Amino acid sequence: MTEPQPVVELRGITKRFPGVVANSDVNLTIRAGEVHAVCGENGAGKSTLMKILYGMQQPDEGTIAVNGEQVRLRNPQDAIRAGIGMVHQHFMLADNLTVRENILLGAEGLHGIGRRAKARIDELAEQTGLNADQDALLESLGVADRQRVEIIKVLYRGAKIVILDEPTAVLVPQEVEALFETVRSMQRQGFTFIFISHKLDEVRAIADTVTVIRRGTTVGTADPKAISSRELAEMMVGSELPSPETRESTVTDRAVLRVTDLRLAAEGSTRAVLDDISFTVHAGEVLGIAGVEGNGQTELVETIMGMRRATGGTVELVEADGKARDLTRLGTLARREAGIGYIAEDRTRHGLLLTQPLWANRILGYQTREPVSKGQLLDIAGARRDTERIVADYDVRTPGIEVPAAALSGGNQQKLVVGRELSGDPVLLIASHPTRGVDVGAQALIWEQIRVARHEGLAVLLISADLDELIGLSDTIRVMLRGRLVSEADPATVTPQELGSAMTGAEEAA
Ligand SMILES: Nc1ncnc2c1ncn2[C@@H]1O[C@H](COP(=O)(O)OP(=O)(O)O)[C@@H](O)[C@H]1O
Ligand SMILES: [Mg+2]
Repeated sequence: MTEPQPVVELRGITKRFPGVVANSDVNLTIRAGEVHAVCGENGAGKSTLMKILYGMQQPDEGTIAVNGEQVRLRNPQDAIRAGIGMVHQHFMLADNLTVRENILLGAEGLHGIGRRAKARIDELAEQTGLNADQDALLESLGVADRQRVEIIKVLYRGAKIVILDEPTAVLVPQEVEALFETVRSMQRQGFTFIFISHKLDEVRAIADTVTVIRRGTTVGTADPKAISSRELAEMMVGSELPSPETRESTVTDRAVLRVTDLRLAAEGSTRAVLDDISFTVHAGEVLGIAGVEGNGQTELVETIMGMRRATGGTVELVEADGKARDLTRLGTLARREAGIGYIAEDRTRHGLLLTQPLWANRILGYQTREPVSKGQLLDIAGARRDTERIVADYDVRTPGIEVPAAALSGGNQQKLVVGRELSGDPVLLIASHPTRGVDVGAQALIWEQIRVARHEGLAVLLISADLDELIGLSDTIRVMLRGRLVSEADPATVTPQELGSAMTGAEEAA
């Protein structure tokens, strides 16, 4: 059998940003009809390479050939004309438009709003398994369907080569399986996929070929079925990985966070977004909250942090002497000052000021405390010194502490946030999706830091959509469904599939 033709050949691609070489002499060959995984740590340069292939960024050096012919992709329109489409890591959809409007938005020649467009969208909806009408407002769709809309958008424009940038980061296992089914069936129809991921089991499940990128350079290309996950992981991080540690409980009977009958009504309605939530987190304990996004987890965290006002119930922090301190009426800063570290779900909205230098981000939320403030004044030198410490201790890859947070990759931004939130001896850490969209290296580091802090007596409330993370870190898991804590699982024995069923309420129905 002859090898299928290369449909895309990237040769010697180099892309520099101020202070960072994002891609350095990268070579990548994609063959017709394959699913080609591109793997690498956070900040390795995967998204940059894909943006170059999608015409969103221009390489400083190197060439791109599509179907054997050298091309210049000056913008996404050029890429689309060459048959290349990209589904971004962060969806680029408008909530207040319908499914159809989102698909047609920006498409060449909007003349198609007629019957032909509708029929074509129906066909693509069927192919991708979209569970929504094309007249439905996007805001009524779940994450998996939003992703399908993104994919349809790309197919509608005629893409034959589809780039999926970390598509599974936002999905639960059942949804990942559905996505893979779609990918496989489209592969049979002749589509080619470039699949960006750092989850090795997924790469093994879906990819025909895997190319590993480390620190901007191609490390190698392999058949994922012929090499072990460990070998793959070592290609990615370039060193021996620590063995998975054995579980050792550090849970004490000293309560730290006590939430009692917490209620939150939806704005302008009596529907409960949080419905009589009660739980306790103890010193040395990680309490994990599992749930499909949109079941009240975000509101729970924001109510505990004082960003939303509870309509009933209490949030108390129990001090070392056993006295409970009621936080229910306090603002966010006061709650932080009481000893709560907070890793926000969306670091770019609540965790960081992207345009500000790293050292200024060290001050966020800590402006009243040492070492970044002295008396009533900010201590800029102290903030700078402590930022240098975090950069070193948490392996934040950056050209320096003066660069804006925006210049860091997501994983390095997150390491900065985690380092800051574990500074100043918190008694409680609220960790909301602490490793979302982060590579194996950064993830391992963040997990390790949370474990160390727990060992030293930190109480942790962990909210995550990553079931491996929940199972790996938690001492107890509670499942949240429609604003209530509905069931409890033992992380030592529960499987991701069982958790997934509890999360979707399949268990309740059964
Ligand atoms: N627009 C940009 N400006 C400056 N630096 C960038 C930009 N985009 C990416 N980088 C840097 O390039 C490197 C690679 O980033 P990226 O391609 O997003 O990695 P990955 O997708 O593998 O996580 C990172 O160090 C990141 O900070
Ligand atoms: Mg990326």
